[in-house]
Amino acid sequence: MGRRHEFHATIGSTNDRAIALLKAGAPAGSVVVAEEQTAGRGRMGRSWHSPPGGSLMFSVVLHPPQDALHQVGMVAALAVAEAIEAVGAQAVRIKWPNDLLVHGRKLCGVLPEAAWQGADLVGVVIGIGINVRVNFALTPFAETAISLENHVAGPLNRAELLVGLLRRLDDYAAMFGADAIFSAWKARLDLVGSRITVNLPHGPETGLVEDVESDGAVLLRTSEGIPRRVIAGDIALVK
Ligand code: BTN
Repeated sequence: MGRRHEFHATIGSTNDRAIALLKAGAPAGSVVVAEEQTAGRGRMGRSWHSPPGGSLMFSVVLHPPQDALHQVGMVAALAVAEAIEAVGAQAVRIKWPNDLLVHGRKLCGVLPEAAWQGADLVGVVIGIGINVRVNFALTPFAETAISLENHVAGPLNRAELLVGLLRRLDDYAAMFGADAIFSAWKARLDLVGSRITVNLPHGPETGLVEDVESDGAVLLRTSEGIPRRVIAGDIALVK
């Protein structure tokens, strides 16, 4: 990973750039890194802002087998979890589907996107944004987000963090299709048995998580006893 890489002081979105490279034939492991994004994108159509110097933002091109597409976000979350644990982060959990949390606060977001030619998968791009030293005080995220340097002792080198993460992503990408990816991802979720609210197209629904399936879907039993299979959306724990 990263043998072909680009660094941009400022770019619209590293995901957009990586998708353009993917469509132009970029090999797996091509990486686009940026210090600042002017049109950074998050999940569910949201934007992703981060001040220059505060985070590690990059996108990686991958060519997974089409039948392992559901594992792309999982391998990204696992690679981030292990890379930040290697620099001292503790009790790193995954918030479904692929946010990384410490102390219940968001430390990293993952945005996997696929490119298609008709029914054929051209490849995928994984966009990753890690809060390394973002100051969330006086922002709407003061209570819900956290920076890695506020959690581990000492300043971090973002280039070294990136290298450690790309190595782990390389290892996981070599395992696409293996059940071990799902097991490792599910083990960091803490979701089965929780009561959650999920935003579905017809509105929010609350229920008990009965299971998480190997394709990443959440099996929910709503308060009315109706079974729901949720494959995308935002969830919140109900206390
Ligand atoms: C989320 O939590 O909603 C996902 C956020 C993903 C942000 C990263 S930053 C690098 C890459 N480029 C983007 O435009 N988005 C992702």
